[in-house]
Amino acid sequence: MFDLTDRVALVTGAGQGVGAGIAAALAEQGATVIVNDVVPERAVETVRSLTDAGRTAITASFDVTDLDAVVAGVRAAEAEVGPVDVLVNNAGNGGAAGMPVGSFRDLDPASWDGPIRVNLYGVMHCAKAVVDGMCERGRGRVITISSGAGTAGVSIGVSPYSAGKGGGIAFTRTLALEVARFGVTANTLAIGLMELPDPTITESLARSIPMRRTGTPADIAAACVWLASDEAGWVTGQTIEINGGSVTT
Ligand SMILES: NC(=O)c1ccc[n+]([C@@H]2O[C@H](COP(=O)([O-])OP(=O)(O)OC[C@H]3O[C@@H](n4cnc5c(N)ncnc54)[C@H](O)[C@@H]3O)[C@@H](O)[C@H]2O)c1
Repeated sequence: MFDLTDRVALVTGAGQGVGAGIAAALAEQGATVIVNDVVPERAVETVRSLTDAGRTAITASFDVTDLDAVVAGVRAAEAEVGPVDVLVNNAGNGGAAGMPVGSFRDLDPASWDGPIRVNLYGVMHCAKAVVDGMCERGRGRVITISSGAGTAGVSIGVSPYSAGKGGGIAFTRTLALEVARFGVTANTLAIGLMELPDPTITESLARSIPMRRTGTPADIAAACVWLASDEAGWVTGQTIEINGGSVTT
């Protein structure tokens, strides 16, 4: 089960963290992985660790917020390893200028664009670059990594990020309906708090989670492997919460 041999997977923002874990798991199941990151050295490092482990992977360093760069980067990678069968929209954060944090009432409207561009337009740009090919070939998988910030909401002063993450969910769901008849699925993983480099902060975050631990890239990667596989062929338009039992919608 969950064999991804002969599949090509593009994972955005895979130079570290959750994306690197997803890239490793897909490669372990046999996929050839296109490792994207806006920071080229990070993509190179992920590819190095995958190829050292005997997997097949190449880099594709582009900024998901730039549609022209996305299309050019995807086409160049496809010329090398073949068409993308699996897109994992993982790149996401507060945007190029960093996460704007504050109550919505206080935030400068100029700060909204960054998180919405990367978390919503980034997803749409990458989908635009690959879904026509998926539909023409009669198979494909789009998996968007979102957040509880986009489903239940979070009261930590990140409303523009929530808007981007929620937009990514809504877009992916509607895309799923449009491409279902072509054998292409589109689903979202709304993930909870991940471990942080500082163990003290991780420990304190874990206390708010029913399972009493933060998530790991492997927790998210396992769900990506399943959604990418033939076995998940009848799963589409879903938003699956992976968060250790935290309160959701
Ligand atoms: N860490 C968490 O607790 C958490 C919780 C919920 C959701 N998420 C979501 O999970 C995903 C991964 O999170 P993470 O913690 O691993 O992030 P991270 O910041 O550790 O890594 C993200 C990677 O994406 C790259 N990236 C950023 N902007 C990019 C762009 N415009 N184009 C291409 N690459 C870009 C970065 O260089 C980085 O290597 C994100 O979408 C994030 O919003 C994370």
